[in-house]
Amino acid sequence: TSEQFLDIDARYASAKALALEAAQLGMDFYRKREALTIEHKGDDLQDVVSIADKQIEAFIRERLTQLFPEDGFLGEESGSADLGARCVWVIDPIDGTACFVNGLHNWCVSIGLLIDGEPHLGAIADPNHNELFNGCLGKGAFVNDTPLKVSAATHVGQGVTATGTFHSRGKEHFIPFMEKLLAEGGMFFRNGSGALMTAYVAAGRLLGYYETELKSWDCMAGLVLVKEAGGQVNDFFRNDGLLLGNPYLVACPGVYPQLAEMIGPSLDD
Ligand code: IPD
Ligand code: CA
Ligand code: CA
Ligand code: CA
Repeated sequence: TSEQFLDIDARYASAKALALEAAQLGMDFYRKREALTIEHKGDDLQDVVSIADKQIEAFIRERLTQLFPEDGFLGEESGSADLGARCVWVIDPIDGTACFVNGLHNWCVSIGLLIDGEPHLGAIADPNHNELFNGCLGKGAFVNDTPLKVSAATHVGQGVTATGTFHSRGKEHFIPFMEKLLAEGGMFFRNGSGALMTAYVAAGRLLGYYETELKSWDCMAGLVLVKEAGGQVNDFFRNDGLLLGNPYLVACPGVYPQLAEMIGPSLDD
């Protein structure tokens, strides 16, 4: 019920601790990744998954269910429960699976929490670089306890912009965007983890990040970080974005309008 007392501090502490613990579990699999059987989701050759993704999600889900039995859950690998609850956890057990299975160090565990439909807190753990990104509405965003702040740049030519696409809805918008970014003197970047690229925008390492379509578990933890670090985010939740995904743009305020202009109306379709 709405009068129910929500212990946000306990949830924030749990998100951080669980992300770190799950990331160590991920490292155990990562060190022995040659032994993993890689499955494809349906007949999709790009969308790979292994037992590591499934076991890490099961671990997080079990712990959250024990700690906060009244909360809802949405995860990439195990689906959803109680989405009508006030608190809904949105989890990506490994963001950057293609990197993970190929021995590239760009993957992370991402744990976000929605309260009354709003991204409220998030924790993103990157064990290869020993970085924990976390943030909570009204309490700031941090990497290993150092406060995050977006870039002060006012033009795409002043730094690096992340971008990405999948062979899914919206991929036709990718090349036109790239042409405009290059024409304006921008530099592009992709590391294969939407959650980490979002955290890097919050940290001011990247000016912005555009992906033609992202799922909510890729970005839910990171959205809070970007907002708390002074960045701008597009309306990811329209048209059932939580369940279906949407085009995605996060950026420092000085560059957001320029990137939105390059993307055009498809950003808000
Ligand atoms: C993927 C990553 C990638 C993005 C894809 C996502 P996964 O998530 O975030 O950067 O380009 O759209 O699906 O499958 O590695 O969890
Ligand atoms: Ca995936
Ligand atoms: Ca993901
Ligand atoms: Ca994933």
